[in-house]
Amino acid sequence: MTIENPVKRLLMTVTQGVYVVGVGDDGLQNAFTASSVMQVSIQPPMLALAVNPGNASYPLLVESGVFAVTVLRQDQCALADFFGNRSARDENKLRTVPWHAAPSGAPILEEGLSYLDCRVVSKHPAGDHVMILAEITGGDFLHSHATHSHTRPLRYDQVGDMDGSDELLPDHLGIPGADTP
Ligand SMILES: Cc1cc2nc3c(=O)[nH]c(=O)nc-3n(C[C@H](O)[C@H](O)[C@H](O)COP(=O)(O)O)c2cc1C
Repeated sequence: MTIENPVKRLLMTVTQGVYVVGVGDDGLQNAFTASSVMQVSIQPPMLALAVNPGNASYPLLVESGVFAVTVLRQDQCALADFFGNRSARDENKLRTVPWHAAPSGAPILEEGLSYLDCRVVSKHPAGDHVMILAEITGGDFLHSHATHSHTRPLRYDQVGDMDGSDELLPDHLGIPGADTP
């Protein structure tokens, strides 16, 4: 797949993973694909997640104050596509995929590589997303696979333009209308 947008090509050099974030605790649960996830603190272990507040998952995440990040394997592009291009507004995505609840109650995909259970600490506006800071309260590998290539984590640069950001990103950086001297 050819990426046309030069800003998208540039941003793809920033290494990110591709995850499925499970939200909600008892009763109402959902999950969505996210690439904007990073570890931000060592002591205590903390993680940052950027969420589009327009996602059906957002109110569930904020109300429950917990989420669980399933790390996808390199052969799980189809799962990233499924959870990232469909919405709980139209269907129950968790109905067709095996999952169980993390200790927090948030859903974990059973076929993933590993998971991190998280508790929200604070929220910060971040452009068209909201940056969620969370403490990592638990986590583990989901299978005792040997280190084959398919057990490596899926990377954002491996999924092409699955999220459609090629078209959404500006085609140049800087202040609109301002010329570089
Ligand atoms: C590869 C990929 C990465 C994505 N990364 C994010 C992300 O970091 N944050 C986010 O809010 N949405 C992200 N999305 C979009 C959501 O997964 C998508 O809007 C999803 O349909 C929301 O589901 P929901 O409405 O059921 O919550 C990504 C989608 C894809 C395909």
